[in-house]
Amino acid sequence: MKFFVDTADVADIRELNDLGMVDGVTTNPSLILKSGRDILEVTKEICDIVSGPVSAEVVALKADEMIAEGRKLAKIAPNIAVKVPLTWDGLKTCKVLSGEGHMVNVTLCFSANQALLAAKAGATFISPFIGRLDDINLDGLDLIADIRTIYDNYGFETQILAASIRTANHVAQCAMIGADVMTAPPSVIKGLASHVLTDKGLDQFMKDWAKTGQKIL
Ligand code: E4P
Repeated sequence: MKFFVDTADVADIRELNDLGMVDGVTTNPSLILKSGRDILEVTKEICDIVSGPVSAEVVALKADEMIAEGRKLAKIAPNIAVKVPLTWDGLKTCKVLSGEGHMVNVTLCFSANQALLAAKAGATFISPFIGRLDDINLDGLDLIADIRTIYDNYGFETQILAASIRTANHVAQCAMIGADVMTAPPSVIKGLASHVLTDKGLDQFMKDWAKTGQKIL
């Protein structure tokens, strides 16, 4: 499963990329706001760091304006994936931009039928939001499994990009189900290294080592 990092924070992207943990990046208008940066400038900087797909989201609501925005965003770098919302106009935009050879990430997906439409419109990525479904007491992971089944049934090549990931369990379960990609905030990716038994075991090793009186260096 590929790891995308869900942030527009360049320092975090650089740190994780240096460790080989970044196969791509996803941004959205809220993350651009959080970064305090200009969308074109920060997206270019991210594309210079990361060689994989970098999602940049359109903000228009009508297809003709979305298409124009998408074309402008796609000019930033060859690895831009234009992110469009899962609306009828977003699907029209997806069809046009994917037909022009651009990568398209269809976002804000909350149902299997929406994912089916995105695949038929030629999406490169479909982004089902797990955490936001969990927030309203539905099971976001069930949606990932349903989309996996549907795409495999018909051989759709659209990649399932599990989004709105909040926990380590989301990551492991997405990998078990067979999501192609997951995108998570840097804190969640770094948190995957933590385990209470690792901390406990290391503490015991350090105590016992101190008792040996030895040094390696
Ligand atoms: C990714 O493309 C989404 O923008 C992101 O994962 C949303 O996550 P959130 O629901 O935690 O804001």
